[in-house]
Amino acid sequence: MDQLQQLPIPLLTWYRDHARVLPWRSDPTPYHVWVSEIMLQQTRVAAVLDYYRRFLEAAPAVSHLAALPQDQLMKLWQGLGYYSRARNLQKAAAQIMERHGGVFPNTYEEIRALAGVGDYTAGAIASIAFGLPVPAVDGNVLRVIARVTGDSGDIASSPMKQKVTRALAEVIPLETPGDFNQALMELGATVCLPNGAPLCEKCPAAHLCRAFQEGRTGELPVKAAKKARRVEERRVYLLFYGDHVALRRRPDRGLLAGLWEYPNEPADAEPLEQWGLAPGSLERAGTGKHIFTHIEWHMTALAGELDSPALPEGWVWADRVDLRDVYAVPNAYQSFSRAVLDRLGHF
Ligand code: ADE
Repeated sequence: MDQLQQLPIPLLTWYRDHARVLPWRSDPTPYHVWVSEIMLQQTRVAAVLDYYRRFLEAAPAVSHLAALPQDQLMKLWQGLGYYSRARNLQKAAAQIMERHGGVFPNTYEEIRALAGVGDYTAGAIASIAFGLPVPAVDGNVLRVIARVTGDSGDIASSPMKQKVTRALAEVIPLETPGDFNQALMELGATVCLPNGAPLCEKCPAAHLCRAFQEGRTGELPVKAAKKARRVEERRVYLLFYGDHVALRRRPDRGLLAGLWEYPNEPADAEPLEQWGLAPGSLERAGTGKHIFTHIEWHMTALAGELDSPALPEGWVWADRVDLRDVYAVPNAYQSFSRAVLDRLGHF
């Protein structure tokens, strides 16, 4: 990985001219950098911008985040996915209040010890907010470095991540570690694109890139295939009473923990009797599919009207406004929102 010595100067020069103007970059406090980096995991910049703004309005500092009611936190995250990120964010806010008197910790080790903060996020906060010379290696950075160095190691593997982290630690500029890390991410996000489509003619590192020189940008990086996802067939029950629909809260642990949903069960279950509910008739109300990290849901919805407002313990009736303002229903159920809203009447 020797040619990395040559990387910082052209990369930083390029970054000064090409860095996107982003809200967390104009005022990179530890809190701002932390919230943005957690939101940006698995999520594109364009999708994050509105969420970031609303989140900071609701929780402008660590103490506000620590005190946010769970439903408001989930509502602020609704649609971003990977909801454990939000729960860990709040857990870490509580840790900062307790362990650090409300002041964001300023060493890599203390930052890394916060809930939901891994090597990448700790490196990003340490370098961008505190100017510490620590690499921040995410998928974009792994792709850039695998190509520049012509390394065909599996970028999904720990040994390759460690190798790249060690190599970057040798060359990270002591004066501008945050800019260097962000420049690498930015190059990966805007120029050194995945799936064999990099814009090498725009790349400040093309002259020292092994993959470019050897015509191997289509082969690199090497990434081991993931295990196939398990498919679950599920039946979703859209149960109405007048202009209200029934929702229940998911358990506090596991997939979509703590979020609200239309009641649903494996397709071969017959849960209505167990719920003590007897809709007059059930009609098919569409299908939906949602892909999670390890599971895929294939859903069929049934819709029906109940003749009494009695619901199982813990379920609620929600009207249109409740759906918009109160209950966080994840995108997994988005395929059914038209069918629901059509029956809830209009404003
Ligand atoms: N992706 C995640 N964090 C980023 C950052 N700080 N700059 C550019 N892209 C990013």
